[in-house]
Amino acid sequence: MKSPIIFALDTKEIDTAEKWILAASEHIDHFKIGLEFYLLHGSDGIERLQQQAEFELFLDLKLYDIPNTVKAAVESVARLKPKFLTVHASGGSAMISAAKSALPNGSITAVTVLTSFSEAEFTSLGFTQTIDQVATSWAKMAVSAGATSIVCSPFEVSSLRDALPKTVLITPGVRDVGDDHGDQVRVMTAQDAIRAGSDFVVIGRSITNLWDGSDKAMRTKIEQIRSSIN
Ligand code: C5P
Repeated sequence: MKSPIIFALDTKEIDTAEKWILAASEHIDHFKIGLEFYLLHGSDGIERLQQQAEFELFLDLKLYDIPNTVKAAVESVARLKPKFLTVHASGGSAMISAAKSALPNGSITAVTVLTSFSEAEFTSLGFTQTIDQVATSWAKMAVSAGATSIVCSPFEVSSLRDALPKTVLITPGVRDVGDDHGDQVRVMTAQDAIRAGSDFVVIGRSITNLWDGSDKAMRTKIEQIRSSIN
């Protein structure tokens, strides 16, 4: 593995995604494709990227539906051989087991509480426990149901690491000091997230905001982040 960075290829353009992979591949071998790209280009678009470069696929579809529908959805993307495929932990254990049964060689990644939630907004949904408590109980349930990786904010990592020592913990919500937070609320630097116990950090806009058609600034930023966590 080149680094514990998962680069979020949040773009609608196949050409741009290809250029970003090439720009980053000296230091990064895990790339995340989410709804923005997938809904426009589908599995064929991802296969086109896979033909251009060899990389580990983190397919971030955040599936959430009844177990039978999720199982069929996972079957539809299994040919892409994702290393990680996301489902919402809140879909429950039957849904997660169904997803696992359709992807025996990949890791079902359960997304706990989105990193865009503040504690106040989370409470307003009717939850009486803290984000940390809910994320920990959802993560334990998800792992019992067959998930082998968890997405959480860097702030929940230490609780989850204690509760689930062998599970792969993946944290978005990563920003450098001085970076724009955008819609992310619970953020930390990559260095702090790894120190707290993350196995991987997901980074998108901190890198992609520097894209201006040339990859120079982007490459410099990737090198900086990579050296901060080594
Ligand atoms: O641009 P930024 O670094 O905020 O991107 C974070 C990426 O991680 C986005 O693609 C987003 O969909 C994803 N993500 C997240 N929070 C989660 C799960 C995934 O921000 N809980």
